[in-house]
Amino acid sequence: MTIKIFRNFSEIATLANAFHKDGRRLNPEDLGLIKNGSIVFNHDSILWVGEDRHLPEEFLEKGHPEIDVTGKVCVPEIVDSHTHLIFGGDRAHEYTMRQNGASYEDIASAGGGILNSMLGTQNLSRTELLKLAQLRVKNIRAYGVGTIEIKSGYGLTFEKEYELSRIIHDLKNIVRPEIQIINTFMAAHAVPKNFSNSYEYMKDVVLPLLDKLGEEQILDCVDIFHEKNYFSTDDVISLFERAQRWNIKVKIHADEFNDNKGAILAAKYGALSADHLLQTSEDGILALANSNTVATLLPGTGFFLGKAQANARAMLDAGVKVAMASDYNPGSCHCDNLILLASIAAPQYKLNLAELWCGITLNAAHAVGLKNQGAIIAGLKPRFSVFNTDAIDRITYNWGKNFAN
Ligand code: NIG
Ligand code: FE
Repeated sequence: MTIKIFRNFSEIATLANAFHKDGRRLNPEDLGLIKNGSIVFNHDSILWVGEDRHLPEEFLEKGHPEIDVTGKVCVPEIVDSHTHLIFGGDRAHEYTMRQNGASYEDIASAGGGILNSMLGTQNLSRTELLKLAQLRVKNIRAYGVGTIEIKSGYGLTFEKEYELSRIIHDLKNIVRPEIQIINTFMAAHAVPKNFSNSYEYMKDVVLPLLDKLGEEQILDCVDIFHEKNYFSTDDVISLFERAQRWNIKVKIHADEFNDNKGAILAAKYGALSADHLLQTSEDGILALANSNTVATLLPGTGFFLGKAQANARAMLDAGVKVAMASDYNPGSCHCDNLILLASIAAPQYKLNLAELWCGITLNAAHAVGLKNQGAIIAGLKPRFSVFNTDAIDRITYNWGKNFAN
């Protein structure tokens, strides 16, 4: 198998220690910075990493291709573990309404919100949706992100949700291996108006469709919007139990507008992640700390909606595994640039640099069930993000500047 060598990165953030600490309770040193570092890898694995001056002779003797990466920075691959990037239309007008005083909930009850994007999505053909999603994936890739989770959820009929999950699956095959796509089924995103309640919609659309897609084995995860006027605790339980029957991992939009005890539910069902968590109280934080469920914070949504941010510091100090993701979607965060969002959020969340990078690499990989990447250590997958700058500090310091290679 072909071996390649990256020689002389200005800096490599290995996150080796973070990996051994399971992404929890990180000190700044857990970034695991190596200066003038080299990486030896083949198609499947990292074989060696360290300072270039310690590069073992055995790799040099055999004339493997060497790539000169002087002046660049390498981190474990950046993962955007929460996006809703498959949608038609936009909601610029709603954003303006919010700036002029309406709340997200007001707009949703007036027929805006997710149901508005449902119409925009239903108006587009399969081909148009695939093309749009492919373009959005390409744009995110251009920031240096290599793994992208995509949720369905703007179709909201049996047929259209089926189409969305199949499009995500097609896209996954088109862009691999350069980009990894995680296919998340989120038909339980909002209850369409022709159903009298969430239970009926779960029974007639979400659960039967999950069975169909489960049979076809194309899903990686399921997700659900657990919130007043959206989906109840009983709906969450029925979805999780059905998904687990198909061996599909579960995720949840939890405690965004109210403390619905979604974090506790996530921990109880061994969810890969509980996301949002703006309102999670101490008992929820404790439940997450005692579990393997990743707390995925979505700072862009707080910024976009003008809401108070999640209590990141309390979670980190309690030993919760914390990730950050973009939540890129047409309504509550129309921003696809995770590095920008994490950079702006870090001082608010009071993150040290190891917590910041671990949150968009290692812990984000865990949030989508990928346990074999997220740190640059021998044996893990050779998935990296490379930046055209000589110091890792510069990447998050220069808000919005794209250094991706
Ligand atoms: O994660 N909270 C639910 N879903 C999305 C919002 C979707 C929308 O407003 O279109 C979110 O923020
Ligand atoms: Fe979301």
